[in-house]
Amino acid sequence: MPETEIPQNATAFDMPRHVAIIMDGNGRWAAARGLPRAEGHRRGVEALRRTVRAAGEIGIKIVTIFSFSAENWSRPASEIGELMGLLRRFVRNDLAELHKSNVRVRVIGERAELEPDIARLLVEAEELTKNNDGLTLVVAFNYGARQEIVRAARDIAAAVKRGDLDVADIGIETFARFLNAPDIPDPDLIIRTSGEQRLSNFLLWQAAYSELIFVPTYWPDFDRAALESAIREYQQRERRFGGLVARTGS
Ligand code: FPP
Repeated sequence: MPETEIPQNATAFDMPRHVAIIMDGNGRWAAARGLPRAEGHRRGVEALRRTVRAAGEIGIKIVTIFSFSAENWSRPASEIGELMGLLRRFVRNDLAELHKSNVRVRVIGERAELEPDIARLLVEAEELTKNNDGLTLVVAFNYGARQEIVRAARDIAAAVKRGDLDVADIGIETFARFLNAPDIPDPDLIIRTSGEQRLSNFLLWQAAYSELIFVPTYWPDFDRAALESAIREYQQRERRFGGLVARTGS
């Protein structure tokens, strides 16, 4: 068996149920080759396709990808246009294939600020795939964790004001129910590519007990072997969730 392969008999205990990925380094990948940044993003979409396919085959149930952050609006308009164009093409070209592969697409992030056709495409992807029960692909698009938490706090305050919620009942579980996708379990593993070691406003609440793995690979070079290597490192970790005994996150 090649060194990179995950044993087929890996148990559900070993396998992260939910892997979230910060797909970083597209620009540096391109710069290192004297190519425009846009080419790095295009190759990033290919890495995304490979990774989703591999994750499904390995037996991961949920993959969340950070595809456009709430802070990415500060980039030049041309690059924002390129990223929006890639999302349009990704949904148009890949949705049928994802649907055929039984992938369920979910989207988290602020939709009101998106161009109407993009918002429609995201709804279309969710609608078409809502009954699929294979891998769930959560696309974080125009997403920021602080924004998500503030929005939840506002909704909680409104619920209290309406008389639908008692202040005394606001605990961790109640708060979490107001977040974007409360039915999705927290990520067991968060991978960030490109060597940067921070969360950059990604899933700050949900990452409380996630294992974090930072890999030097630029995102366009990420592949099944890199994913399997991160999972093997995850499997070496002991998750105690603040207690004394190692246990599974699922
Ligand atoms: C980080 O690289 C990547 C992004 C800001 C966007 C990620 C987008 C893709 C992988 C392709 C688009 C996919 C969809 C579904 C829209 P960077 O530009 O920050 O790289 P750098 O840090 O090297 O400059």
